[in-house]
Amino acid sequence: MSDKKVILITGASSGIGMASAVFFAKQGWNVAATMRNPKSLKEFEDYTNIKLFGLDVTSVDSIKNAVEDVLKTYLRIDVLFNNAGYALAGPFEAISDEEVRKQFETNLFGVMNVTRAVLPHFRAQKSGIILNTTSSGGNLTFPLYSIYISTKWALEGFMEALQYELRPFNIVVKNLAPGSVKSEFTNSTSFVSNSVYDKYANKVQGNIIASYQMAPDADTVAKVAFKAATDNKIKLRYPATMQARMGFFLRWLLPLQIFNKMVAAPFEKDTDK
Ligand SMILES: NC(=O)c1ccc[n+]([C@@H]2O[C@H](COP(=O)([O-])OP(=O)(O)OC[C@H]3O[C@@H](n4cnc5c(N)ncnc54)[C@H](OP(=O)(O)O)[C@@H]3O)[C@@H](O)[C@H]2O)c1
Repeated sequence: MSDKKVILITGASSGIGMASAVFFAKQGWNVAATMRNPKSLKEFEDYTNIKLFGLDVTSVDSIKNAVEDVLKTYLRIDVLFNNAGYALAGPFEAISDEEVRKQFETNLFGVMNVTRAVLPHFRAQKSGIILNTTSSGGNLTFPLYSIYISTKWALEGFMEALQYELRPFNIVVKNLAPGSVKSEFTNSTSFVSNSVYDKYANKVQGNIIASYQMAPDADTVAKVAFKAATDNKIKLRYPATMQARMGFFLRWLLPLQIFNKMVAAPFEKDTDK
């Protein structure tokens, strides 16, 4: 049996998942790069220690098959990296119940189901790390992302509570919280609109586009993921970009009322109430 460590990554077809697959492979890990539609990716061509597996986090059967296949291939999993996700954005009243549920199916229930599938293996092995890509929006809030943010707050709360019951089994939970990161994220964001909110929404969109122009690339988060996977610390939260660090610092420093005013201010000037 290889003594190389093994990481299973969800959502490895692009962005943070893909960058992490390459980063861990470069450090000599065996990587199970899972994705909905496995396809040969030029980014992985140079790495014989990256293997692709089909996994849709919204399908329990696909999760079960993928975890079994990864264990057959690598005989172990040391780190589960729950990374797959997308954003649903727009004014809440324009978003349907179906769209809300779909967002939770991927960003929250998907993570729960993959985690449930891997836990028996971690317990038997008496070790394991569960890494999760949450978001700065897992602890902070910003406008027009109420549903996305509620999935990430729920994920933070779920994982923070789960960590306690897993400690006796030497299983450690770690949440990576990026701010804006260049990836396919903005392309896959499903933006629902309602013309009543257009004036306000356009300002928020403008601000988001500006934040992505200055955003770091996904490698920045991959490095933090590797640190979290290897630092041997029992530490829950890793802000994964400068923007996230700044946001958490200000949220810690300021009373909530002041913090909320600071978030709201740029979008309220000259906007009709
Ligand atoms: N980029 C940001 O600014 C940012 C900020 C904070 C947090 N995040 C979080 O970071 C994580 C990764 O996002 P990213 O920025 O790397 O965006 P990305 O490039 O769009 O990658 C998202 C990945 O998730 C996968 N995915 C979506 N639904 C899935 C499903 N049902 N089953 C399996 N895989 C699925 C996508 O696969 P397909 O190719 O099949 O669609 C893709 O591989 C997400 O959880 C996101 O919420 C991103």
